[in-house]
Amino acid sequence: MSRRIPVAVLGATGTVGQKFIRLLADHPWFEVTAVAASSASAGRRYEDVARWREPVAIPPLVAGMVIGECAPPLPGRIVFSALDAEVAGPIEQEFARAGSFVVTNTRTHRMDADVPLLIPEANADHLALIDRQQKDRGWSGAILANPNCSTAALALALAPLHRAFGVERLFVSTMQAVSGAGYPGVASLDIVGNVIPHIGDEEEKIERESRKILGTLSNGAVASAQFVVSAHTNRVAVVDGHMMTVSVGFGRRASADEALAALRAFRGTPCVAGLPSSPNPPIEVDHRTDRPQPRLDLDRGGGMAVTVGRVRPCPILDLRLVVLGHNTVRGAAGQGVQIAELLVAEGRVERGSGHERGP
Ligand SMILES: NC(=O)c1ccc[n+]([C@@H]2O[C@H](COP(=O)([O-])OP(=O)(O)OC[C@H]3O[C@@H](n4cnc5c(N)ncnc54)[C@H](OP(=O)(O)O)[C@@H]3O)[C@@H](O)[C@H]2O)c1
Repeated sequence: MSRRIPVAVLGATGTVGQKFIRLLADHPWFEVTAVAASSASAGRRYEDVARWREPVAIPPLVAGMVIGECAPPLPGRIVFSALDAEVAGPIEQEFARAGSFVVTNTRTHRMDADVPLLIPEANADHLALIDRQQKDRGWSGAILANPNCSTAALALALAPLHRAFGVERLFVSTMQAVSGAGYPGVASLDIVGNVIPHIGDEEEKIERESRKILGTLSNGAVASAQFVVSAHTNRVAVVDGHMMTVSVGFGRRASADEALAALRAFRGTPCVAGLPSSPNPPIEVDHRTDRPQPRLDLDRGGGMAVTVGRVRPCPILDLRLVVLGHNTVRGAAGQGVQIAELLVAEGRVERGSGHERGP
């Protein structure tokens, strides 16, 4: 028998919420004990309401659950938020005030000075911001944020390069999947056979969030990294997976071989590397000239590994590369679960208060 920690999922019916439900189904530490969504869904059985898009059956324990309202109390110290950003802010604050650790995928709190914006392999030390958050806000819970989906892949790939060579200038152009817009997302008549060269506020998110993630924690505050970012974001007719072409300039000039060595050697702390959702390695380098590709490389490391390819010199900046990440796994639910695992591994949530689980 093992004891699993009860968790709740807010926005459980949406694209990211469904990915949480799927990833948590057989999780060794966590057990979904509550699901919540909008008032239109509340009071109804999950399987009757969710337009389930995952290519596996709805986990039986969740299928028959009655959807709750997004208001505390819900069972479970950990609450995953996959809420529509328009409504998430006050709901997430209410849960944190009531004592929950809210791991959020929405943009609302990401840039708050006392909210850690986490990629566990890159900046697990930023978790300490929640001490300040709890003290300043008087909360027994806290809000922890997952970055925007393209930023999650980009900043993970940049982390070893920034550490080794100091990123100073960055140019990134994204090709982002339709699932990044949630369900039903972009109308098929707009995207099939097409590219849309604008995703609302995405360029700004990449620019500010990547600097915070790769920033330095000191005296209870994160000083954002000081590189300049020029981002172009495009929606393309791909179901899952955000790919991006990147040119980067460093403070210390780096050859392609040096960059490849840094990318290959990169690992999180031993604590992070040992988490159930951590891929090993977190960054996979593929030397083939036509890789990575979303259809072929997206599920590496269970969708948690970022694939980097085509690392080569850049005639304008120092190096060019291609980065691919799974937007609903590394860019949302998978990394959300990994952040919650970090909370447990660091002893901030007790393991002992869970439910008995049969063999
Ligand atoms: N899709 C991605 O790749 C991705 C990646 C990273 C971050 N995110 C972020 O994650 C969040 C969820 O994205 P998504 O793509 O899963 O969106 P989605 O498919 O549109 O799902 C939105 C969820 O929010 C719920 N909701 C809507 N209005 C509500 C209200 N007034 N009160 C309570 N719940 C409400 C919906 O419940 P009903 O079904 O009852 O309406 C649904 O469960 C967004 O903030 C998004 O920006 C998305």
